[in-house]
Amino acid sequence: MTQDRPRAHDAVVDAQFGPQAAAYVQSAVHASGADLDQLEAIAAQARPARALDLGCGGGHVAYRLAPHAGAVVACDLSAEMLAAVRQTAAARGAANITTELAAAEQLPFDDASFDFVACRFSAHHWRDFDGGLRQARRVTRAGAPAVFIDVVAPGRPLLDSHLQAVELLRDTSHVRDYTIAEWTAAVGRAGFTVEAVRRLRLRMEFASWTERMRTPPVQVEAVRALQRQASDEVRGHFAIEPDGSFLLDVMVLEATAA
Ligand SMILES: C[S@@+](CC[C@H](N)C(=O)[O-])C[C@H]1O[C@@H](n2cnc3c(N)ncnc32)[C@H](O)[C@@H]1O
Repeated sequence: MTQDRPRAHDAVVDAQFGPQAAAYVQSAVHASGADLDQLEAIAAQARPARALDLGCGGGHVAYRLAPHAGAVVACDLSAEMLAAVRQTAAARGAANITTELAAAEQLPFDDASFDFVACRFSAHHWRDFDGGLRQARRVTRAGAPAVFIDVVAPGRPLLDSHLQAVELLRDTSHVRDYTIAEWTAAVGRAGFTVEAVRRLRLRMEFASWTERMRTPPVQVEAVRALQRQASDEVRGHFAIEPDGSFLLDVMVLEATAA
């Protein structure tokens, strides 16, 4: 496809995710996991009056927050994702979930209007990572918890380049999987204090990983070519399997608004 017109990054994100809203509601990788269990445990302890799920996608964070919060706002820049969240929340009887169409970098909420903020698997798509984190901090009351969950890049450039390359080929709205060092520095710059960082690994089943993003065949083949030509070190770290399935590094970063 040729590109002959201006196209903002957020429009690239919307075009990638909007049509796949139902797939993200159903995605097993997104609907469950030890990271979601950890997030829910933090929310159960905090019992926030008003919680924000930033970059909510299919709403899996919002559904975990809802039983422990007075109100949950699920926010995303994709209107189709938000429609899927409203439908799913209604089907589950989660009446305290509302939706808001907005980019993380331009949140339409008052300062300190949330006492819990969570953001899972979204920030690696943001055009302005620091700007989105500053907005997350602005809308969070001082002393309130924030939980950031995302795919992280291994510190070594050899592994980092492979990860970013296959991520971008699979999904052209990918910006960067940051390292844990980059995350902790950025969260600190935004005005949060890091309390804990936990790591886990998630297996991506190759066929569903690419189908979820409708990756064009030429790009699927390019990912497979990169995997086949990768060094033992790269293949070993990501535990690349014969069909292309592999392991991603994930972080659960627990912070407090300073
Ligand atoms: C992988 S999906 C969502 C995952 C979801 N949070 C979950 O836990 O299942 C990433 C979502 O981030 C949203 N997104 C990407 N960039 C965004 C931005 N700058 N502001 C708000 N949402 C954004 C996309 O529209 C998409 O719905």
